[in-house]
Amino acid sequence: MNLIDQLNALVPAFEESLAKAHTLPQVEELQTAYLGRKGQLAGLMSRLPELTPQERPLFGKSANAVKERLQASMNARLATLNAAQEEAELARFDATLPGRAPWQGTLHPTTLVMEEICSVLTGLGFDVISGPEVETDFHCFEALNLPKDHPARDMQDTLYVTDSIVMRTHTSPMQVRAMLERKKPPLAVIAPGKVYRRDSDITHTPMFHQIEGLLVDKNVSLTHLRGILTAFVRQLFGKDMQVRFRPSFFPFTEPSIEVDISCILCGGKGHVGSTPCRVCKTTGWLEVLGCGMVDPAVFRAVGFDEECTGFAFGLGVERITMLKYGITDLRIFFENDLRFLSQFA
Ligand code: DAH
Repeated sequence: MNLIDQLNALVPAFEESLAKAHTLPQVEELQTAYLGRKGQLAGLMSRLPELTPQERPLFGKSANAVKERLQASMNARLATLNAAQEEAELARFDATLPGRAPWQGTLHPTTLVMEEICSVLTGLGFDVISGPEVETDFHCFEALNLPKDHPARDMQDTLYVTDSIVMRTHTSPMQVRAMLERKKPPLAVIAPGKVYRRDSDITHTPMFHQIEGLLVDKNVSLTHLRGILTAFVRQLFGKDMQVRFRPSFFPFTEPSIEVDISCILCGGKGHVGSTPCRVCKTTGWLEVLGCGMVDPAVFRAVGFDEECTGFAFGLGVERITMLKYGITDLRIFFENDLRFLSQFA
């Protein structure tokens, strides 16, 4: 066989082998064997010097034609194999299977309860407002009838930024902001948010959440306070929940009241079976919020007239969340433990 015949013979040999190649590696192997740098085609081409100068152009032309044929055959084989593989994959794919949901985080229990409380209160007609966590002494204390050096300031361990700027210790400054902004009644607002205190132990964290409420109008009485807050507490804890109003003291309300619900563990009996109840310490009651009729001194501080009446209330969101879900350790809210957090998904 002369060289050109040998060249041409490569085509059927290659195609025959290709037809038997059923995988990508097998095709690649053939490619190396025929078209590679040390492959059969290259081997024949290296024998060019054996030919006479007249024979060489024809040989070169044939070599190029063979090379193109081999490449075309190989590409066609690859296309067939790829299509077959795709088809096999599709045959295995069951489009009726349910999808795999991506892992999703959940809202923090404090956020969930905060949203729930806000939704109950907006349902009762309150608007949601928000304001700064870094507050002036005026909004946080002074206007709320808590003058400097007043002993009641000791109830709240304050983080000072400067002499007259503080991290707000409660959401009550939002009462002041709401009234200064609205200029006159009526208004009914709630202000959820973070508050800060210089306090850190098993039952206190330096940051926690409160929701403040304020309703101001003409002729608002203690009856309105009782009605609204009873409705609120029962929507949150259940319609049969016992509610108790007990006298207390806050500088910005007069009279001041604390609201209790019957103990979620012992149901108000003070003991579980024959053991004393550890949740309510046998009193049968749990404090849920502070409230009262707005002190006239607060109205004066924001320029509201003598005829204004209103009530205010404030509650701790972590505390409510603990009561609602029977959580006994405050620290778990801040530990980022997924075993705890994912229970609220
Ligand atoms: N600001 C109070 C605190 O942080 C809670 C509070 C009590 C708010 C009575 C009120 C209220 O609006 O009327 O302890």
